Amino acid sequence: MITSYALSASRNIFFKLFKQAYCKEAAPPKQSMLYDASLPFFNQRKQFSQQVTEIKSSDDGHSVTVLWDDGHKMKYPYIWLRDNCRCASCYDSPVATRKFLINDLDLDAKFKLSEQNAGELMFYGTEGHQTIIQSSWLRDKTFGTIDMGPVFDTKLWGADLLSYLPKFKYEDVLTDDEILYRWMQSVKIHGIALINDAPTHDDEELRNLTERIGHIRQTFYGVVFGVKSKKDTYFPGYTSAELPLHTDYTFGANTPGIINFHGLKRAPSGGKSMFVDGFKIANDLKASDPDAHRLLCTGVMSFGLVGFDCGRHFDNRGQSKIINLDKDGQVGKISFSQHARKDGIAKIPMEQVRSFYKAVQKFASVIYAPDNLLKFMIEEGDMVTVDNDRVLHGREKFQTDGSKERALHGAYFDHDEFESRLRILSKQFSKKHN
Ligand code: OGA
Ligand code: ZN
Ligand code: ZN
Repeated sequence: MITSYALSASRNIFFKLFKQAYCKEAAPPKQSMLYDASLPFFNQRKQFSQQVTEIKSSDDGHSVTVLWDDGHKMKYPYIWLRDNCRCASCYDSPVATRKFLINDLDLDAKFKLSEQNAGELMFYGTEGHQTIIQSSWLRDKTFGTIDMGPVFDTKLWGADLLSYLPKFKYEDVLTDDEILYRWMQSVKIHGIALINDAPTHDDEELRNLTERIGHIRQTFYGVVFGVKSKKDTYFPGYTSAELPLHTDYTFGANTPGIINFHGLKRAPSGGKSMFVDGFKIANDLKASDPDAHRLLCTGVMSFGLVGFDCGRHFDNRGQSKIINLDKDGQVGKISFSQHARKDGIAKIPMEQVRSFYKAVQKFASVIYAPDNLLKFMIEEGDMVTVDNDRVLHGREKFQTDGSKERALHGAYFDHDEFESRLRILSKQFSKKHN
């Protein structure tokens, strides 16, 4: 752990020195190096690997095609290059923000791109704009796509996941950034990650874990919420009854993205946890029953929860499809809860309502198929983290004997914070960039 910190500190110093030395030398007045503070060393290093071999203007003078020595070819509209000028009057490099306003964009301005030195391209524009840009920066851009950071290949799983899912030690996740990164990677790849050996004092352990990412996402249930039997509760989770497989906060316009569970005391009997990969269920259904899949991707259901917690009354209401596809037609979010389901159904023609119910019933049944369902006990000191957009969770009923109550804590954080932390850690630890 000490080694990893030392390594990361020395790397940071190196980035700084590299940046200072390199920028000073190569940045004459009225020109600026393209240095994006959000891009680390690996981006700079790439410039030495692929060289530009040809820059060809289009006949209409509106775009340029750049060819690299490995055969990679990419076309860039001049207007986009102009918009991305990194000269000092257009761009504030140290903080990686724009100064240039789109209102000032001259749609008819002409530009020129030419090779300056190896790895550097000179960008000349009218209005006196002149910038050196790294060819590696351009190489990384594919006009028409938006870079959201590291991409992890999703691996769908079934009941055998536990035989290969990595487990992490609480102390390691808290103290070692590389282990933290691997644990977060597990959430991205499998939608679930496991931690052992967490102390079981109180709220503090989940707070400390969340601190490693960002901030806890507070809801009406509180900050760190205790899932324990409560009298006159608004929520079946707070009884000892079975809690059917569900995703949390189905009624939320901004659903908490990641759920962290922490086992403090297991019930004397019963209370095993259940998890299922909702993305696998959606994909399987698409292949085995396309009509059911289509209806689940179309029909909108209402969800809600009314209650009193942490000193406040609340009346949560919302609506969602059960299978929500992303812009590329891939499953992006599963939203399902038996207990929070309300009476509203929309986007389904009257004559298809029965078929819709049949599809919902099929979904509610296949999530329990033995091949799909992962069932295990969250032991004292275990933590389970799930992607609430992907993995459904639930628990079997349990019995208490009066002397020993079951105690499970939960805390949320949002996807935005998780993704932000992952981008930062990826710059240091992603193999892709080593
Ligand atoms: C919940 C929940 C799980 C459990 O409270 O939403 O899923 O094991 N609890 O009690
Ligand atoms: Zn400029
Ligand atoms: Zn839940």
